[in-house]
Amino acid sequence: MRKLAKLYIGTNTKMYKTVADTVAFLTELGRLTADIDRQAFELFVIPSFTALESARKCVPPALVKIGAQNMHWEDEGQFTGEISPPMLKELGVEIVEIGHSERRHVFGESDADENKKVLAALKHGFTPLLCVGETLAQKELGISDESLSIQLKIGLSGVAREDARKLWVAYEPVWAIGVNGIPASAGYAAEKQWVIKRVLGDIFGDAGREIPVFYGGSVNPGNAAELIAQPYIDGLFIGRSAWNACAFNELIRKVVPVFAGK
Ligand code: 13P
Repeated sequence: MRKLAKLYIGTNTKMYKTVADTVAFLTELGRLTADIDRQAFELFVIPSFTALESARKCVPPALVKIGAQNMHWEDEGQFTGEISPPMLKELGVEIVEIGHSERRHVFGESDADENKKVLAALKHGFTPLLCVGETLAQKELGISDESLSIQLKIGLSGVAREDARKLWVAYEPVWAIGVNGIPASAGYAAEKQWVIKRVLGDIFGDAGREIPVFYGGSVNPGNAAELIAQPYIDGLFIGRSAWNACAFNELIRKVVPVFAGK
C-alpha cells in the first residue's frame, strides 16, 4: 500500500502536434503549473521527434522533463528512418519511451527489441520509460499477469541491479488505450500495478519495488483522482485528456492533493 515520495504525471502526444503546436502547449503548460512544488511532483511531456529541440528550449527542465517516443539501440548505422541515442542526447532529451503499445502492435516491435532499447537508453544516461500491457485476448484468456511478467523480464533483461533506480515503467493495457479504449477500473489497474511491482521486486529485489509505475489508458478528468488514490499507482501517463494545456492543468490539480493525501 506504500506510495513513493513523488507523483509523476506525463503525456505522450503521439503523432498529433507539430513543432508550433508543441511549443504553444508546453509554454502554456509550464506557465500554468509553475507554482506546483516540483519536489513532490514530476511533470513530463513526450512530443514528436521533430519538436524535441524546440520543446527542450521552450520550458525549463525543472518544470517539465522532455522525452522521445522511441529510439534505435545502435549509436549509428545503416538504419534509414531511425533515430540514435547520441542524436537525442544532443537535443537535451531526458526520457526515452520504449515499447508503447502502438510501437508493439502497429509497428511489430518485440520484447527483445524493447530490451535492446532499454539497455541503450541506460548506457546513454536517459531515463527509460518501459511500457507494458496485456492485449484484450490475453486478458480474456486469463493470462494478463503472465504477459506482464514476460514483457518485464525480457524487456529488463541484463539491467544491473544498481540501475533499477533509473527506470520508469508504465502499465498501459492495450484494450484501454486510445479512442476505442475502455478505461480500466481503478481496482483492476491497482491489481495489475501490484503484479508489476511484484515482478520488479523479483527481478531487482527491494530496488525493484521503488521503481515508479504509472497507469495509462483512457485516463480522463473523471477517473484520474480515483486511479491515483489506488495503492501502487505512482503516476499517470495520459494521451487525449492531456493535449490541451488548460484541461491538463485542471486534471493535474485534481490529482496532486489526492496523491498527497489531502
Ligand atoms: P489515451 O489516454 O488517449 O488512452 O492514451 C494513453 C497512452 O497511450 C499514453 O501513452
